[in-house]
Amino acid sequence: MTIIKNGTLVLEKGAEKGDLAFEEGKITRVGGQIPAGAGDEVIDAEGCFIYPGFIDQHTHLQMDTGTAWTADDFESGTRAAACGGTTTIVDFATQDRGDTMMHALEIWKGRAEGVSRCNYAFHMAITDWNEQTKKELEKIREEGVCSFKIYMAYDNLRVSDSEALEILESMKQIGGLCGCHCENGPLITTLQQRQIDAGNTGPAGHPVSRPAEAEAEAIDRYTWLASLADVPVYIVHLSSKLGLEEVRKVRERGQTVYAETCPQYLLMDDEKYLLPGFEGAKYVMSPPLRGKEDVEALREAVLSGEIDAIATDHCSFNYGSQKTLGKDDFRKIPNGAPGIEHRPSLVISLLQDKLDPAALCRLLSTGPARLMGMYPRKGCLKPGSDADLVIWDPSVSWTIEAALQQQNVDYTPYEGTQIHGRARDVFVNGIPAAHLGEPVGAPAGEYVKR
Ligand code: URP
Ligand code: ZN
Ligand code: ZN
Repeated sequence: MTIIKNGTLVLEKGAEKGDLAFEEGKITRVGGQIPAGAGDEVIDAEGCFIYPGFIDQHTHLQMDTGTAWTADDFESGTRAAACGGTTTIVDFATQDRGDTMMHALEIWKGRAEGVSRCNYAFHMAITDWNEQTKKELEKIREEGVCSFKIYMAYDNLRVSDSEALEILESMKQIGGLCGCHCENGPLITTLQQRQIDAGNTGPAGHPVSRPAEAEAEAIDRYTWLASLADVPVYIVHLSSKLGLEEVRKVRERGQTVYAETCPQYLLMDDEKYLLPGFEGAKYVMSPPLRGKEDVEALREAVLSGEIDAIATDHCSFNYGSQKTLGKDDFRKIPNGAPGIEHRPSLVISLLQDKLDPAALCRLLSTGPARLMGMYPRKGCLKPGSDADLVIWDPSVSWTIEAALQQQNVDYTPYEGTQIHGRARDVFVNGIPAAHLGEPVGAPAGEYVKR
């Protein structure tokens, strides 16, 4: 048995001093003083919080966008995740058009198995809604996939409104939750062409051709489709005040809609696209960074409990060799930015003066676990739960630098950001996975069947 002593346990009801014991990958005792017997290992966590491992339910590892492969594969991506305190990710297995969902799941499992330093589960991104896909849904659910995603943007990924409706209706049959990338794709294509025609070929053309209206309209449309299908839905990477207002309207009319935002939308704004040269390309992601008012609105929504989870949408591309694909045309800049390693540090640093540890934990671990069908196996400190644990030292201050990161990418959008607090020790299934930001031991991540 391993006993973590003298720490502050982050429980759902609040944080309290106490010990925690685990054995064979499971938490066995929580709270009070746990006496150590002969052969027990004791870890001193004086001055530290013990969190249930953090969960990042929006990552893209080892993904081919058609023009570029993400810089992080499952080895580097999960290494970075674990070193930052994330013990489970939910990545997107994406169906290729003309192919099956089962094949996509096999491919993604094959990429993750044996190399992952944190646990992994998969959403299924449905891109080809046909008779075969419909037949496969039950099977996919049996394979442990209970969350899905559709895209309203990207020509190679998006489904039509009627397909979206049918997909939502099928969620009712299998008890699935469908997330959506809410941006109006055809509208964006038109707005992009206008920028190109006007000679605005650089990164600054990206945000203006993906305005908040395109997000808000898509949220409105998606949630009305969900109303027709009578199912709860999930909005991924909410980025704007207009989009947030749509979410509020949906809730006011009594529908259940869950909202996720990301650190980038809470910490940066669209001035990044005005950086000299091609620097703005580092921040080309979809949806794009928004204005200061949007950042403020989303921060307030996090504080008021309107946001159910903060995930990264980690989708890394090297600045020097991959973002440059769009040097002469911003439409060709691979979309996405890294964040998997730094999310807990960024979010806790930003919010720890305003939210207590239990509220932070709701955003980083408990909320995602509940939404993604992993609770109480994950997302809480309870006897019987998996021993995915983070010993968090709030006394350490440090600075994010690409030169120090585990992420296999040549930059970080958070370069120079001051951080207060750090994952001291991380356990994945009861096995040490990271210490002071460095990986420990062999990869111990497992597939999480939900
Ligand atoms: O720019 C982004 N977010 N790339 C990843 C794919 C997506 O839209 O989530
Ligand atoms: Zn998306
Ligand atoms: Zn994404």
